[in-house]
Amino acid sequence: MCGIVGYIGKKNAKPILINGLSRLEYRGYDSAGIATIEDDKIEVVKSKGRVSTLESIEDIKNLKGTIGIAHTRWATHGKPSKENSHPHFDNSKSFAVVHNGIIENYIELKKFLTNKDYKFYSETDTEIIPNLIHYYYSNDLNDDSLKFLRAVTKACSELKGSFALEILSKFNPTEIIVVRHDSPLVIGKGDSENYISSDIPAILSYTKDFYILNDDEFGILTSKTANFYDSNLNKINKKAVNIDWNSSSAEKDGYEDFMLKEIYEQPNSIRETIGSRISLDSKCYIENIDFTKRFLKSINKIYIVACGTAMHAGLCGKVVLEDICGIPTEVDIASEFRYRNPIIDEKTLVIFISQSGETADTIAALKLSKSKGATTIAITNVVGSSITREADYSIYTHAGPEIAVASTKAYTAQVVLLAILAIYFAEILEINSDKLLKLKKSILELPSLVKEVLKNTDDIKDFAKKVYKEKDMFFLGRGIDYTVAREASLKLKEISYIHSEAYPAGELKHGPIALIENDVTVVGILTDSHLSKKTISNLQEVITRGAKTFIITNQNVDNDFDNVIKIPKINTLLSPILSIIPLQLFSYYISKEKGLDVDKPRNLAKSVTVE
Ligand code: AGP
Ligand code: GLU
Repeated sequence: MCGIVGYIGKKNAKPILINGLSRLEYRGYDSAGIATIEDDKIEVVKSKGRVSTLESIEDIKNLKGTIGIAHTRWATHGKPSKENSHPHFDNSKSFAVVHNGIIENYIELKKFLTNKDYKFYSETDTEIIPNLIHYYYSNDLNDDSLKFLRAVTKACSELKGSFALEILSKFNPTEIIVVRHDSPLVIGKGDSENYISSDIPAILSYTKDFYILNDDEFGILTSKTANFYDSNLNKINKKAVNIDWNSSSAEKDGYEDFMLKEIYEQPNSIRETIGSRISLDSKCYIENIDFTKRFLKSINKIYIVACGTAMHAGLCGKVVLEDICGIPTEVDIASEFRYRNPIIDEKTLVIFISQSGETADTIAALKLSKSKGATTIAITNVVGSSITREADYSIYTHAGPEIAVASTKAYTAQVVLLAILAIYFAEILEINSDKLLKLKKSILELPSLVKEVLKNTDDIKDFAKKVYKEKDMFFLGRGIDYTVAREASLKLKEISYIHSEAYPAGELKHGPIALIENDVTVVGILTDSHLSKKTISNLQEVITRGAKTFIITNQNVDNDFDNVIKIPKINTLLSPILSIIPLQLFSYYISKEKGLDVDKPRNLAKSVTVE
């Protein structure tokens, strides 16, 4: 959550830091701050509120330093306020720290430091960190070049929880130390300069070469060098990797909002996800995976584990995996899975899905699965993200950076990739090649069909205008259409703040139908020809009770629905990729009508790095 930016080089650090923080705004935050080194002294400016508020503070105008750290805070410990904002100093103002994450044992460490006469001026867990560093620094009698790093490693060895840190020291005014533990941080390599960020897009306009920091690795950065160490101060050789994301994909490119841009990017992002993985005259190829028939035969269960939208993509993946591979597949929410002692062993394959690759619950569930002997695959959008360092195999969605908090193109990319993965397994298992060929053909048609869906959006906009003031809505579907109902309902809640429920259409009469009254909006999804008639009957039941209906379908429906959005026909296993798009737009237009901040909905963060 929140964001970290840093710069060390020859340029004025402030504009670079402010620019980076602005690019991280989409992640959600409540305060911002910056520290630079000015004439061997650390200057801190911080405030509650937006980055623009920080920028307007008089003191920030004087900052000229070429070394600096910056932060957007998403409060976990202590209310949003200037005092609780980062950077935090130690008592002697020798060390300044910005921190993403949570220090779980901060009360214990605060007691320890209070007993040593350290004082605290904020309510945060973070403030113990600079003071602990100061404690170890001032108790170290050796005065060599690694003294600063030694103090930082000692302090970090005491910390429990998650942290990504940038640290400035007035004793070492030409260095920044960085470290991460269960919270993302990357270093961008420039020409006689280094950039730091918790998120690649924030510094993508400056460099495409990144050092990916692993957990418990420390970096000492100067303008010319980036040296890395483990916690025992052994040097680590690290090579920069090139990230092929286009920096303009992190800009709005004329769209009003990132979410709208990302919705419209889907023909292309899906094309990127398919890449060269599918072709009609050869077997499906997935980089980094080399499963054998024997191995797949030994797998008696697949779990798909994820959170939020990624979990909804998993629900579509289950349908495809069971349908074409015949392997029982269960989908679970990571925060539940990790605490419920799931039955897994070396015969289980667990697939983790995470756009950001940084979601704390998903990563914890992955670690648990590995400890029980399961084989693990991570599906993510972010190269080098934490999840890729834990999983046995990692595959990338290649959807490009997703900036809007509400996930759209990452979801469709995940659904496509799961279908490709299922085909890959089925080909190895030598299952029903005719069916696979048909599915492959349909996958290759997706980019142009998605484009078609995006052409006719007026009716969706008109309906959004009619219903944007409503308090409740319902989304109904059966089978794979129900999985889309769940995702559509989540999207609506996230960005329009309208309460909504997704229900399997047949389950409505077992309770929730009591909530249907005159003029309530019910959205129906009808793409599975085997189930449509049944869902239509359920929709008829709500029409009888006064509901107005909004239908997304590829079937010929001649019923009494108020609004029908037609989408192209496709293999039912892939229909979520087309049926979700009008519903992404529906949520978007409602949010716009309500005048809300579509890209940065209240209370939400783009990647949830705390549990
Ligand atoms: C999506 O619109 C949400 N913001 C959220 O549910 C998200 O999908 C979830 O937090 C998982 O994130 P991840 O894919 O980065 O792990
Ligand atoms: N736990 C810290 C705080 O509340 C850091 C929160 C964040 O990651 O922004 O200040």
